[in-house]
Amino acid sequence: NQPFPKDFTIDSTAAVLFEGYKFIQNRKHMLNSNIFQTRVMGKKVICISGEDAAELFYDNDKFQRQGAVPKRVQKSLFGVKAIQNKDGQAHQHRKELFMSLMTKDKINELQRITRNQWEMNIKNWEKAESITLYEDSAYIMCKIAFEWAGVPLKESEVQQRTHEYKSMVDSFGGVGPRYQKGKRSRINNEKWAKHMIEQVRDHTLSADEGTALHAMAWHKDSKGQLLDPLMAGKELINILRPIVAISRYVTFAALALHEYPQYKKKIKNDENGQSTKMFVHEVRRYYPFGPLLGAMTRQDFTWKGYDFKKGTLVFLDIYGTNRDSELWDDPELFYPERFDNWDGSGFDLIPQGGGDYYKNHRCPGEQVTIKVMEESIKFFVNDITYDVPNQDLGISLRRMPTLPRSGFIITNVNRK
Ligand code: HEM
Repeated sequence: NQPFPKDFTIDSTAAVLFEGYKFIQNRKHMLNSNIFQTRVMGKKVICISGEDAAELFYDNDKFQRQGAVPKRVQKSLFGVKAIQNKDGQAHQHRKELFMSLMTKDKINELQRITRNQWEMNIKNWEKAESITLYEDSAYIMCKIAFEWAGVPLKESEVQQRTHEYKSMVDSFGGVGPRYQKGKRSRINNEKWAKHMIEQVRDHTLSADEGTALHAMAWHKDSKGQLLDPLMAGKELINILRPIVAISRYVTFAALALHEYPQYKKKIKNDENGQSTKMFVHEVRRYYPFGPLLGAMTRQDFTWKGYDFKKGTLVFLDIYGTNRDSELWDDPELFYPERFDNWDGSGFDLIPQGGGDYYKNHRCPGEQVTIKVMEESIKFFVNDITYDVPNQDLGISLRRMPTLPRSGFIITNVNRK
């Protein structure tokens, strides 16, 4: 069998931070291989990229998550020992809890809430001199998240909660103060979320059936026990935080409407919703968010002539797979039409992971993300007018997670 092509740097940790999203792609091109070996943070890592790599990565017989998610990421972004870190039966049981919130009715309700929150916000925007879309949409997404999850939220609290969820997400590619901020936000927010769960359980706070708050508070693990209240709180956060993070895609969507204005007309005249959906898929494919995912091999196996040893850390290249020229024609082009008659394999468009929602770690919030984006984009196109003044719209691929540098500023907002 063949040896893994090697990245001959002693340790590539600095390169990951320096090259950001393109770390794997750069080496993939340099070594002319979709698979190579490197070292990150003192560990041997095999990096893989592309559709068949994604299919391999989601093979539960070959891979597990335990041991793959660094403690620092659990302590800031995910929550220690929460769903992201589970395997097998325990994972599937927990995943069903999340998927129980993703019914058609619940997604329709989310659509209504999203629409309504944008409507209620418009008065503020009409009065404002200028708006930084990333900041304001995060604030609005926070209100949407809490309302949908059935969690009470005072107007005076929105700023703090928005800040906490933004910091958790912002910390994942950061060291020093950026990481510390995410960790502090998680500590605060977990304390609050645990308290919410306890209040539901002692009936001092009412939670409607079907909401995330109710589901997390009363979920029983596979042994029939209620989750410990802190764990239930962490899983509640695993609903609230990522909905706030949709503000990043809302910002990228507004940027795409600005840079490719021809799609406004298509979205406006979109009778069956198909053009809007294609636009949303392309925003999620094209603009960077999660760079890569990690998993650990759970047995020795051979794939494409390469021998993987049990206990090896493997990185799947999300950014590069979404821009893989073997998979996408002209991947560097923003071209929503590529999704016309698209029949996804589950391993090609992977901004939110791949595989099966129930069996794998694929993001359970993918339909939530798509619905909130669609509703937000429709509102921008159909219901308001605004100007986009000169500003720095550049996107650094070194900074993870990234955004247009200005945060996307708009002015002169008016209701149509
Ligand atoms: C998992 C991306 C929105 C809840 C994931 C994964 C990715 C991802 C890459 C990991 C897949 C894997 O480990 O194989 C995103 C992006 C979003 C988003 C880019 C856009 C903002 C959401 C939303 C929710 C959500 C709106 C909830 C309403 C989760 C949960 C997991 C997850 C609970 C863990 C699933 C598991 O381990 O089985 N997401 N997500 N995400 N996401 Fe999302």
